[in-house]
Amino acid sequence: MKDQADILQPLPEALDRASAELASGRLVAFPTETVYGLGASALIDEAVAAIFEAKGRPHFNPLIVHVPDSATAAQHTVFDERATLLAEAFWPGGLTLVLPRRTDTPISLLVSAGLDTMAVRCPAHKVAHDLLKRAGPLAAPSANASGKLSPTQAAHVAASLGTGHGHLAMVLDGGECAIGLESTVIGLPIDGPATLLRPGAVPRKDVEAVLGYELAQAESPDQGSESTQGRSSPGQLASHYAPDAPIALNVTQFDENDVVLAFGAEGGPLPPGSLNLSPTGNLREAAAHLFSMLRALDGVAKGRRIAVMPIPHEGLGEAINDRLSRAAAPRP
Ligand code: TXA
Ligand code: MG
Repeated sequence: MKDQADILQPLPEALDRASAELASGRLVAFPTETVYGLGASALIDEAVAAIFEAKGRPHFNPLIVHVPDSATAAQHTVFDERATLLAEAFWPGGLTLVLPRRTDTPISLLVSAGLDTMAVRCPAHKVAHDLLKRAGPLAAPSANASGKLSPTQAAHVAASLGTGHGHLAMVLDGGECAIGLESTVIGLPIDGPATLLRPGAVPRKDVEAVLGYELAQAESPDQGSESTQGRSSPGQLASHYAPDAPIALNVTQFDENDVVLAFGAEGGPLPPGSLNLSPTGNLREAAAHLFSMLRALDGVAKGRRIAVMPIPHEGLGEAINDRLSRAAAPRP
């Protein structure tokens, strides 16, 4: 067992090797347009179990199954009219659908963490798509240690999971993730309304425009209880995406104890080491920079807190503020 995973350019030979590693139950990290995923064959129980182990992920938190197309998703889930409509509009892309599992699916029960539903997503990134074509459905959470910042570059994966985890065979390097924020997760229960389980890469309004009605709202994040009872989105723990440094939100007055994550016009000099998510106030640019800048600020904070300027809540701002509020939540 080696303890440093290789970072490889996604050439055909590397994709062949990745497929072989996955088929033999090992883990391969791969790029998607949202964030890097930690992939395992969704058909192999031991491989899926290894994901939970490598991330230190609580076993009640289910995984997304990545598929090359909606026909594959429909083999494993009850893919109703709403799912078809949303897949036609947003796949391949940053939308995940939580649907009833088909009783005859060979997908590991472990991905569902005891629920009778399965999350499915067809990503747009070419490397992810090529890999899914070769290796079949892949269970893949974000490729970070549980509770930490999601990776938007191959080097982030190696830093978070690369050493001491014998299961991680390799990281496919697809450069920087274009969107930089995880997928939007929509629940589509058979006898219930379409529900926003996690804001993300596809803004709520865009989903609602396709459905023709408003999404129901998932209950508020769990406050640290270990119970999964009644929690419709088990991954929505209050504390998540946490840098090591303390973090304060909606800050407009700074001092020498701060390192600032700015947005838009800065209105004056900022403490040394500060960064700006988007000097022009562009939410798309801010989303793409969010995790890598939090990571960089964490590296230079040295006892200072990370002070984040206010960010508007519309469009991608809903997902950006969701991640920031969980990065700032009290830690367990
Ligand atoms: O963009 C993304 O979604 C990335 C890339 C790699 O695809 N993946 C990702 O996975 O963010 P993860 O595991 O970090 O987050 C998946 C979210 C969690 O909040 C989890 O609880 C929720 O989806 N989820 C998965 N299966 C579910 C299910 N059956 N019911 C409810 N929520 C589910
Ligand atoms: Mg995650």
